Amino acid sequence: MFFRLLLPFLFLGLSIASSSAVCLTLSKLLPGQVSFPNSTIYDNAVASYFFVQERLTPNCMVRPDSARDVAVVIKQVETTDGAILSVRGGGHSANVGFANSNTGITLDLRSLNHISVNGEGNVTSVGGGALWSEVYEYLDERGLAVLGGRVGTVGVGGLLTGGGLSVFSPRLGFASNNVANMEVVLASGDIVNANATSNADLFAALKAGQNNLGVVTRFDLLSFKQGLYWGGGIVYAESAVSAQLAAFAEFKTPANFDPDAEIEQSFLYYKAKELRISSNNMFYSKPIVNVSSLRRFAQIQPQISNTMRISNSSDFSKEMSEAQPANLLGVWATTTFKSSLAGLQDVYRLWNSSVTELSSVDGLVSSLTFQAVPPVTGEDGSVDTFGLAPGTHPEKDLVICLIANWWSDTTDSARMLNGTKEFIAAVEKNTEAKGAKVPFTYLNYAASWQDPIQSIGEEQVKFVKKVAAKYDPNGVFQTKVPGGFKITRVSS
Ligand SMILES: Cc1cc2nc3c(=O)[nH]c(=O)nc-3n(C[C@H](O)[C@H](O)[C@H](O)COP(=O)(O)OP(=O)(O)OC[C@H]3O[C@@H](n4cnc5c(N)ncnc54)[C@H](O)[C@@H]3O)c2cc1C
Ligand SMILES: *[C@@H]1O[C@H](CO)[C@@H](O)[C@H](O)[C@H]1NC(C)=O
Ligand SMILES: *[C@@H]1O[C@H](CO)[C@@H](O)[C@H](O)[C@H]1NC(C)=O
Ligand SMILES: *[C@@H]1O[C@H](CO)[C@@H](O)[C@H](O)[C@H]1NC(C)=O
Ligand SMILES: *[C@@H]1O[C@H](CO)[C@@H](O)[C@H](O)[C@H]1NC(C)=O
Ligand SMILES: *[C@@H]1O[C@H](CO)[C@@H](O)[C@H](O)[C@H]1NC(C)=O
Ligand SMILES: *[C@@H]1O[C@H](CO)[C@@H](O)[C@H](O)[C@H]1NC(C)=O
Ligand SMILES: *[C@@H]1O[C@H](CO)[C@@H](O)[C@H](O)[C@H]1NC(C)=O
Repeated sequence: MFFRLLLPFLFLGLSIASSSAVCLTLSKLLPGQVSFPNSTIYDNAVASYFFVQERLTPNCMVRPDSARDVAVVIKQVETTDGAILSVRGGGHSANVGFANSNTGITLDLRSLNHISVNGEGNVTSVGGGALWSEVYEYLDERGLAVLGGRVGTVGVGGLLTGGGLSVFSPRLGFASNNVANMEVVLASGDIVNANATSNADLFAALKAGQNNLGVVTRFDLLSFKQGLYWGGGIVYAESAVSAQLAAFAEFKTPANFDPDAEIEQSFLYYKAKELRISSNNMFYSKPIVNVSSLRRFAQIQPQISNTMRISNSSDFSKEMSEAQPANLLGVWATTTFKSSLAGLQDVYRLWNSSVTELSSVDGLVSSLTFQAVPPVTGEDGSVDTFGLAPGTHPEKDLVICLIANWWSDTTDSARMLNGTKEFIAAVEKNTEAKGAKVPFTYLNYAASWQDPIQSIGEEQVKFVKKVAAKYDPNGVFQTKVPGGFKITRVSS
């Protein structure tokens, strides 16, 4: 008992001491790339996390310029007992401790943002710390596109958890399934390629593996010719809610499936203005205005604003970024269900009453979002199917439900986390009772208390465990990189 009480404190002391020793060593091995508390570079790095709760203060921030630099860091952590490492890409995650800590070393990948394209234009290489906005700007200038996130300020690290639902996802699947190769720094410090013919098991596991297997320093993405296309956002007054839900239910009717149409339907509450509104961010992958599958959304009234136009991914992703609340505390969580009008109406009602219950929270912004699950495109039957069975068609009628909540004061955090958890529990109780619940939990949107890796299925969990044990036999990414969904903690 005495030991069990003392151990966490001993361990915390050990990790701070060991991590600060690693910081000093690294400042000699990587001169100019290690920053310490109260320096401008360090403070800017801390402040650059999207969510306030992730602005933690590690012993040092290390900013590598190459895969080789990353290998130097991993090697030091691997060989130092008690050292703790966080891996930071775009820094967009809302889950505390996923990409930063108060006790360790933070590997800030943002300088790994080099982008290049091959001669044929069909493979675009992007650094492991790039933002989608940087990728789109590069590609739009060349008339090319890849599958990625909609929000430009999000990092490409999300490719290790599904990778974003893009305008091309209804046709081509998760962004993670449209990657040709990943360059990975393993726990040993070795730098390897993972692709369909070399380290194929690692390649498959990485698509749902987050930081369990290594640090990805470069993604080679499948790219293709793409011109301008129709898209943007429409914001509606609260009186449009029932028409909005009806239009989405119709859009998700299997017979209406359109592989070129993508839509993100959100219901929003802004405490500051006591405003309840809804919005659609919607895209069609061709330059066709008012295309029939999306026309009904454009016709719903009353509209508050409408930015639908013909444009490109850089401009659309900038618009989506600007719409995101910033410099607040936040949490998000997700669940998936089979679409029906009654089901969507129930989820809306549950959200609307949850928001009413939480409406005394300062600075509250709440969004409930419905999106389509993309088709299964991983043909190798491994984890890149994310537990969606090959041969099935989740894109026809499954809906990913995302709740995202923002607020301003830490004294409300416990209440907000509880409220968010309760909301997901209420939705799952409802969809379960209707026989509409689906086990799939989209990794990119999962809260730290959820178990998204388990949702990929027993066989796949076993597979990822086996691959993790093969490429990281000492469990460096399990014990010394505590942030993230850890595969060894998933029951199977
Ligand atoms: C409202 C909202 C909108 C969103 N929009 C999008 C979107 O448009 N596109 C999208 O993709 N996601 C989106 N997400 C999901 C989310 O931001 C992603 O989950 C993604 O993980 C963020 O990537 P990042 O690199 O910014 O994350 P970080 O916070 O930097 O990292 C997240 C996790 O990934 C690990 N990681 C990051 N990079 C690497 C790497 N190179 N190697 C190994 N591990 C790494 C980190 O260690 C950490 O555990 C959205 C979520 C919400 C709630
Ligand atoms: C950084 O500055 C703050 C405020 O001036 C101070 O409280 C803290 O001890 C400093 N930290 C370090 C590690 O010097
Ligand atoms: C890219 O195009 C070339 C030439 O057409 C082709 O040989 C190659 O297989 C393509 N690569 C990919 C990843 O599609
Ligand atoms: C598309 O992308 C480029 C490069 O990022 C940008 O400068 C341009 O103005 C964009 N918009 C349109 C409508 O072409
Ligand atoms: C796969 O990895 C091998 C070994 O590094 C490399 O030679 C090959 O070019 C890679 N394939 C792709 C598609 O990147
Ligand atoms: C598209 O639909 C909207 C709303 O119905 C209408 O105002 C607009 O004129 C239409 N645009 C075109 C090009 O048909
Ligand atoms: C949402 O809840 C509020 C407060 O209870 C209520 O006034 C409003 O009518 C609800 N909105 C809809 C569209 O049902
Ligand atoms: C958590 O939320 C539920 C439902 O909103 C509420 O009944 C309960 O009292 C809350 N618990 C705490 C500890 O806030």
